[in-house]
Amino acid sequence: MKIFTTRKDLRKYLSAFSGNSVGFVPTMGALHNGHLALITQAQKNNDLVICSIFVNPTQFNDSKDLENYPRPIADDIAKLTQAKCDVLFHPEVLEIYDDNEHWHLNIGELEHLLEGKFRPEHYQGVMQVVYKLLDIVKPTRIYLGQKDYQQYLVVKQMIALKHISVEPVMCPIQRDDDGLALSSRNIHLSPAERQHALALSKTLNWVKVNFNAGNIDSLQRHAFTMLQQSPGVDPEYFELADGQTLLPAKADTKNVVALTAARVGATRLIDNMVVKA
Ligand code: PAF
Repeated sequence: MKIFTTRKDLRKYLSAFSGNSVGFVPTMGALHNGHLALITQAQKNNDLVICSIFVNPTQFNDSKDLENYPRPIADDIAKLTQAKCDVLFHPEVLEIYDDNEHWHLNIGELEHLLEGKFRPEHYQGVMQVVYKLLDIVKPTRIYLGQKDYQQYLVVKQMIALKHISVEPVMCPIQRDDDGLALSSRNIHLSPAERQHALALSKTLNWVKVNFNAGNIDSLQRHAFTMLQQSPGVDPEYFELADGQTLLPAKADTKNVVALTAARVGATRLIDNMVVKA
């Protein structure tokens, strides 16, 4: 695997591959099988696969969270090498951002719903860094995980508004055998907290099994109460939303996704499930 830390060196290397399809998997590292599934999917559809590892400061609204974000770079490089990823881009912050850089893109309501309510400015930071990375890598396709469902829609919207020639691809959530959605943050969970965290996927499954389009409000309320009553779980939201817009689902919404966020101990987890396709 080739490793680049500067945009200049990466661009120089990529210039030899013009005419080839390039699959891009942006990450913040602490790679798990969910990321590796994105790499595998990208390898199926592209001539060259590039992964980036960059803990993006502009998408954190809590400096402690940024500080504590895991950065096991040697492990990550070993995993990518084993997965036969072609290229890793691993820049420093100053390689990506100039001082006092300003970014704002109006994507309407989508930015402020769900995660947006609890993490103001988070999606502006995500769009800013993905825009910059796409400008450097210029891939054919960008691969993002369904676990960050809202992030996928935000990035898709940004790509459309900025007229970027890249195809966004959403890949399914990867789960452990007991249902826990894979996340870089899971390494912060103690064994007891990891057990408590199973309440998220169990509640999502319960809603999927019991989904009834005529009963959306009470299902939502019941699911939130289930989470509140689960030991060690402090839910922030549980919502049934339109899978295209993330606006609240109605009785006639065609695609419905259930999305949730909760704190388990000091760790904030998100998860979601399509309940009506
Ligand atoms: O999902 C992530 O890991 C990040 O939000 C992303 C897309 C790499 C942007 O920093």
